[in-house]
Amino acid sequence: MTAEPDTDAIAADLRHQLVARLTEGGWLRSPQWHAAVETVPRHEFVRRFYRETDAPGLTTWAPVTPELSGVKEWLQQAYADETLITQFDRQEIDWSDPQPIRGAHPTSSSTLPALVVRMLEELQVHDGMNVMEIGTGTGYSTALLCHRLGAQQVTSIETDPDVAARARDALRRCGYTPRLLVGDGLAGDPDGAPYDRTIATCGVRHIPHAWVRQTRPGGLILATLRGWMRSLGLVRLTIDHDDRAEGRFIAGDPSFMIARQQDAPENLGMIPSPDQGTTRSTPHGPDTLTDPGTGFIAQLAMPSARFFSMPADDGTPCTYVLNVADESFAVLTPKATDEWSVRQGGLVRLWDAFEAALARWHAAGTPEVTDFGVTVTPQIQSLWMGAPNGPSWRLPT
Ligand SMILES: C[S@@+](CC[C@H](N)C(=O)[O-])C[C@H]1O[C@@H](n2cnc3c(N)ncnc32)[C@H](O)[C@@H]1O
Repeated sequence: MTAEPDTDAIAADLRHQLVARLTEGGWLRSPQWHAAVETVPRHEFVRRFYRETDAPGLTTWAPVTPELSGVKEWLQQAYADETLITQFDRQEIDWSDPQPIRGAHPTSSSTLPALVVRMLEELQVHDGMNVMEIGTGTGYSTALLCHRLGAQQVTSIETDPDVAARARDALRRCGYTPRLLVGDGLAGDPDGAPYDRTIATCGVRHIPHAWVRQTRPGGLILATLRGWMRSLGLVRLTIDHDDRAEGRFIAGDPSFMIARQQDAPENLGMIPSPDQGTTRSTPHGPDTLTDPGTGFIAQLAMPSARFFSMPADDGTPCTYVLNVADESFAVLTPKATDEWSVRQGGLVRLWDAFEAALARWHAAGTPEVTDFGVTVTPQIQSLWMGAPNGPSWRLPT
């Protein structure tokens, strides 16, 4: 007879190793968050999940459960510094016969622990503070907040009722009873306001003004801003007395799934016909949309655009940049070495706006993401370079 693995002992050991890795990586810095990660059993929040595989081609995820993988392997993966997917395409997973999933769109997860603790450290909480979290997901980050501050200080909002129900069960099993709300976290929680801290674990295209009103003056909002092309980065805003908030990006790399209510429309928009628009040459090809520095500038200069590449009928490779709302477009085709043609049309000359932003960025010496910041007022939201009175771009509100 084989002995049952001692889940609690193995999990405690794996947590200890996770704490060591996160400390070594410089993400886990304070004794309080150290204690929280050492204590909160992540495996209770990810009893079943999908994990990305290295299969070539379309991104593929494989199911992991104690039954499929064995308890030890499941625990090991639950405490890996990995994002674990718990929902795709807003549909609950059929766990009766889980199969590998290909080419789907993750819509809920337990975020990479290194990013979770990095954000919690950057939230700069102190004893007695209350926190509003947007995006409960599995409830793991909510549990860490409960451990650190006490459950009575924590409110978490999840838009998906099935996801919220699973998080509630997991939190209860672990003895945490924070205030859990099901609904659109972009509206915040007027009943629980004011909050000392607001943290979003889903990405947003702009900072909902409700969060500014519901966070107390001097309080902080921590969120990742993103567009439909890519993430802009993690921004930390301080609330002032006039319903304003302002602050800098503190990192460029974090990326979260976008808040559902701000997701890109399914329809990509009309593909412009070859006779539409006016054509000129440009030294900036499609790579500028994906390179880390210029991609950030593309996202801020073309906040409602998306792009994709597809050959034209005659086989010419084309990259289409499209604004669904106003049908503005820019189409790039190769011309010669390091030269492209750009054909633009619609209300906004997208490539002109991008190149103007690139010129300003180059003139300023190609500053890092952390040299940019955001100002939020009840009327507008602007993303600036260098200082609040520097060159700026509007966020789509
Ligand atoms: C990356 S997951 C959250 C990870 C979570 N903090 C954890 O530790 O497991 C993002 C979550 O945000 C939720 N979400 C998306 N839009 C939302 C909204 N408008 N309000 C509240 N939750 C939202 C998604 O359903 C998803 O569960």
